[in-house]
Amino acid sequence: MNLYFGSDHGGYKMKGALVDYLKEAGHEVVDLGVFTDGSVDYPDIAREVCEKVIENPGAFGFLVCGTGIGMQMSANKFKGIRSTVATDEHMAEMSRKHNNANVLTLGGRTTDLEKAKAIVDKFLATDFEASEERHVRRVEKIEGPLGG
Ligand code: RB5
Repeated sequence: MNLYFGSDHGGYKMKGALVDYLKEAGHEVVDLGVFTDGSVDYPDIAREVCEKVIENPGAFGFLVCGTGIGMQMSANKFKGIRSTVATDEHMAEMSRKHNNANVLTLGGRTTDLEKAKAIVDKFLATDFEASEERHVRRVEKIEGPLGG
């Protein structure tokens, strides 16, 4: 499974800690940066990660900014991306089960690191309920009139 991580300056510490955590757990992780607290624009990082997720079916993206909000807004502009911000495990679980989320965003300044690890673990451990026709139908409708 391909896991792509990215952050802005508000999330790079949490992003680095999560990358280390998942690597230690045996996951293959691609860290697309940033690696310092120098100011960057979060939509640029969201684009890099989302393009990887779109190019690699089945991949997941993880984006960390100060709150997770800007990354979430940016990621959902990309066709084929279903991004959720999550502040607890239940949100992460439901985003996978019902919404087939393929990108998770987190707040490096608003969520405790241990909570973030638990959120990521829950996201990765939960499958989309693809046997439930209503969920498949609703997720297809997310693409909307502009997505086609
Ligand atoms: C950067 O200061 C901050 O605005 C950004 O990390 C993020 O929280 C935006 O949603």
